[in-house]
Amino acid sequence: MFDIVVHGKVLQGDSLVETFICIEDGMISDLRRTSPTNGEYDRMIGKERYLLLPGVIDLHTHMRDPGLTEKEDLQTGTTSAAYGGVTAIVDMPNTIPPTTDFTSFLQKKEIAMRRSIVDFGFNIVLMDGTSIEQLQPIVTDPSFAGFKVFMGESTGSLVLEDPSKLEMMSNTLGRIGKPISIHAEDGRFLTKMKKGRKGILRSHLDSRPEEAEVSAVQDAVSFMKGRSHLLHLLHMSSLRGIEAAIRTPASIEVTPHHLFLDVNYCEKHLDDPSMAKVNPPIRTTVDRARLWEAVRDGDVDTIGSDHAPHTIDEKEGELPPSGMPGVETMLPLLLSKVKDRALGLHKLTDLVSGGPAKRMGLRSRGHLLPGKVADVLLIDMKVEKKIRGEDLHSKCGWTAFEGMSGIFPEGVVARGMVLVEDGNICVKPGNGSPIANVGPI
Ligand code: DOR
Ligand code: ZN
Repeated sequence: MFDIVVHGKVLQGDSLVETFICIEDGMISDLRRTSPTNGEYDRMIGKERYLLLPGVIDLHTHMRDPGLTEKEDLQTGTTSAAYGGVTAIVDMPNTIPPTTDFTSFLQKKEIAMRRSIVDFGFNIVLMDGTSIEQLQPIVTDPSFAGFKVFMGESTGSLVLEDPSKLEMMSNTLGRIGKPISIHAEDGRFLTKMKKGRKGILRSHLDSRPEEAEVSAVQDAVSFMKGRSHLLHLLHMSSLRGIEAAIRTPASIEVTPHHLFLDVNYCEKHLDDPSMAKVNPPIRTTVDRARLWEAVRDGDVDTIGSDHAPHTIDEKEGELPPSGMPGVETMLPLLLSKVKDRALGLHKLTDLVSGGPAKRMGLRSRGHLLPGKVADVLLIDMKVEKKIRGEDLHSKCGWTAFEGMSGIFPEGVVARGMVLVEDGNICVKPGNGSPIANVGPI
């Protein structure tokens, strides 16, 4: 007896095939070409017109909980995720307190168990004083996702000042075998930005040149020696940065904001360009074109949102912080590219579902196949909308993608439970589970 059956079209080879995804105990148990009979299931949702895709796994969010909950919290942030088709997140450690040790990790996990709408994992930050042996009790926890290293100052300032420490830690990191996500901007190349809000994106860009990215990529890889395949190079943003990254064994992430925005566009179209102030910075049309080329060439492993909301008051102030929301708009923006035939559907699902699952070693996630976790999105490719900050669900209430086109999922199923239907969230906070907990729960 199936708990739920999801009806729609699934990509098989190069064609879309009418399929009934049959789900039992939160897992996909069968994919059928014809409908199961009434007596075989409790509930059926969907229609033939829906494109069915695996849930998105976003390996890069800053949900601000605990300590910065005026910007976002794990309930609002994961609600926003669910509406954007993201069924699992990996959250970054620059909260208050920062996620540095067992105590701060457990605190965050406990909050997520109460508040999260979607599944979750957490990264622990590695800094100069980190005693990696003391992290041992965490590494078997199903919500432990991996490590984060800031090679230069960014929001929250948790910098690894001496990157050669990576070399000292590399044996233990190799034994643990979890991804090490790198914020690749070398602090030695970063300068103070010009004061004032005029031309803010250009002065921000001048203060964080592409050399910073290239140097950080090279340093991280050389200090990790034979273990550099564990590195996940986050938000590659520049032409030379991504070319340096491609030459390494590390995996590569790009973000929607570096793919969809450049300084010229932001200066022309955004009411307040500071919305697009982010680290690493939004760059030029040439950088952006090179990132798309890398996506199409298969050089990019994952797309992550780097969802990093700040309040509108902070963004409109004299010293706007870096970061922007993006977890809800990531898939919709990319689906619009698929509709325009600028991105293949296989490529898209590799980048936002299969790729992240592989990077995290989550063998049961990221694909619509029997035996996998039943995270299924129902998408009507004909329904394209203008993205509006006021329609989104992040606490911050704004978006730098205002006015762009997006295709939002109409239904979201996670672990076989309906998360989003008819524009409503159908589960209670605390519905999410640790990302590596799979199987019936
Ligand atoms: O722009 C950014 N914002 N880059 C980061 O590295 C951190 C993030 C944040 O937490 O606000
Ligand atoms: Zn980030």
